[in-house]
Amino acid sequence: MPILSSIATQAGRLWRKSPANSGLAGTPPKRRPGPADGSGALRATASGAIEWLNDTDFRLGGTLFHATVDPAVYHARVSDARGFLVVKTRGMIEDLLSHDQHLPIGTILDIGIWQGGSVALLDCAYRPRKLVGLEYSTRDLPHLDSYIASNGRQDAVRVHKGINQADVAAVTRVLDTEFGGQTIDLVIDDASHFFDETMASFNVVFPRVTPGGLFVIEDWQWSTTDVHYKLDYFQGKPGLANLIVMCMLVCGARPDIVSHVTVSPTQAIVVCGPAALPKAGFSIADLARSRGEVFTAVL
Ligand SMILES: C[S@@+](CC[C@H](N)C(=O)[O-])C[C@H]1O[C@@H](n2cnc3c(N)ncnc32)[C@H](O)[C@@H]1O
Repeated sequence: MPILSSIATQAGRLWRKSPANSGLAGTPPKRRPGPADGSGALRATASGAIEWLNDTDFRLGGTLFHATVDPAVYHARVSDARGFLVVKTRGMIEDLLSHDQHLPIGTILDIGIWQGGSVALLDCAYRPRKLVGLEYSTRDLPHLDSYIASNGRQDAVRVHKGINQADVAAVTRVLDTEFGGQTIDLVIDDASHFFDETMASFNVVFPRVTPGGLFVIEDWQWSTTDVHYKLDYFQGKPGLANLIVMCMLVCGARPDIVSHVTVSPTQAIVVCGPAALPKAGFSIADLARSRGEVFTAVL
């Protein structure tokens, strides 16, 4: 099998957060409770407040979504008139809708889009002037296509398929084409969850993040939980947690580059500092040092 289709097959069989380790079982702290909690003010998004119909289905504006982290469901179901499929827990979704507490969100990069649900969700929540989805698979996403067309979002919401996040030249080309000189306020990486591939795209994308902007790495924790690290998908792979440690080390030594790192059980948020970084040649691994020595991926 050629290497590209082998990667696509791997990605298609993607492991995922099990409900036992997900926000459904142990919901991460929510920064802005929604009405379903019965505990707080409505969380306003560009499309109004999220309306949970039950534990998995919700509406944002006029758009329906189905949230699941159950592999049996997300491999079988597609995004269609029943709703966009979003491979996230309710806690992760509510976190996603609260990122604009940190800064206004006008530009977004979503890496790894599966059935296009995360793209539609981010668009409904923020109505950004530019939202770019990057995806390795070339599968058709008709429900996303019709969402974009019927909402007149063709210029703002752009999806690039067949792009491996580890392909530095391809990712650079997409960023140059779509964002030009604009910085990116919010990045969500929910793609391979492999350390090397995730670091490769991090090195390309992070220098383009807005000072104070957020780079969210989902499912950094897979090497910490039996249910995940024992999966075939991760055999022989260094933990993604290594990248989070690198970001922490850079935060300590160079807060002008990484100003904060916030970790929850299913995501790490790396906040970009004010330093101007070169668009090419950035390497988090070169900067991440302890006692002067580069950090070796040990996790
Ligand atoms: C967990 S799914 C994304 C779910 C989506 N963000 C959501 O919330 O509904 C991961 C996606 O990443 C894609 N992917 C896996 N490896 C990739 C790689 N190396 N480069 C780009 N995309 C990749 C897979 O094809 C899959 O569609």
